[in-house]
Amino acid sequence: ARNIIIDTDPGQDDAVAILLALASPEVNVLGITTVAGNVPLALTQKNARIVCELAGKPETLVFAGCDAPMNRPLVTAEHVHGKTGLDGPQLADPTMPLQEQHAVDWIIDTLRAAPEKSVTLCPLGPLTNIATALTRAPEIKAAIEEIILMGGGYFEGGNITPAAEFNIYVDPVAADIVFKAGVPLTVMPLDVTHKALTTRPRVDAFRNMGTEVGRMTAEWTDFFERFDKEKYGSEGAPLHDPTVIAYLIKPDLFTGRHINVEIETQSELTMGMTVADWWRVSGREPNCTFMGDIDADGFFALLTERLARLG
Ligand code: BDR
Ligand code: CA
Repeated sequence: ARNIIIDTDPGQDDAVAILLALASPEVNVLGITTVAGNVPLALTQKNARIVCELAGKPETLVFAGCDAPMNRPLVTAEHVHGKTGLDGPQLADPTMPLQEQHAVDWIIDTLRAAPEKSVTLCPLGPLTNIATALTRAPEIKAAIEEIILMGGGYFEGGNITPAAEFNIYVDPVAADIVFKAGVPLTVMPLDVTHKALTTRPRVDAFRNMGTEVGRMTAEWTDFFERFDKEKYGSEGAPLHDPTVIAYLIKPDLFTGRHINVEIETQSELTMGMTVADWWRVSGREPNCTFMGDIDADGFFALLTERLARLG
């Protein structure tokens, strides 16, 4: 199994990603680090614990990290995820503990102690924790096998501004650090995730599992998708973050290109834009694999099969 660290800001789609990881023997979740993003840190760290308990894995290590981006005020997304970040079903407060150590310190300690190229980082939110760790302890790069993140968009444009996707927009300086880090990087942009839509039959498949996890996942998606349905008349919501975990389990579901991607950190108009050199016209060195397409039916089949394994 691949050792992974999930860095996240739950978020309904983050929650589904965590469930998928905890249900899958191909990945070994060393810990979950939380960051401010969709909602403030006090809620994201709590939400991560709610999800671990739902998965029946209260022994999972959950850490709280940075509560604000590196050089900008926090922008949140309650308009999509609701006031708690996990709006939809009724949720009880978690009883499993939050680890005392700061998430960034734990990431640094864990990677320093890990063999070369033995840990994969899976960021599902703004990149503040990861960039802070890389800046403070650049030697940890040696232990990173790959970074697989959800963020950015190119042909799809942006979802928080016309030019920028939420995770990159919230902390563009952090994203710039990660994209320039020189570690193997795989990116799931909106170009992919906007094809992974929660259509009625797909949500019914969650509900029909007849389990607590199935019911909660259906209720989360019901809430989450109202935004896209009302606003854009689309068939359902994009289930962004679980694509990162699905890629670890079944990489053939995705296709993309090894290209150069630069992050805009200066212009207010295009702040957080992921300028993707899809046609390789810049002459700049490729720094990531930028995915462009997904087998959406295969992705939802995997998700349903795996979530059904949890209680
Ligand atoms: C990303 O932003 C968040 O709202 C989602 O959880 C996802 O990580 C999509 O732009
Ligand atoms: Ca997220």
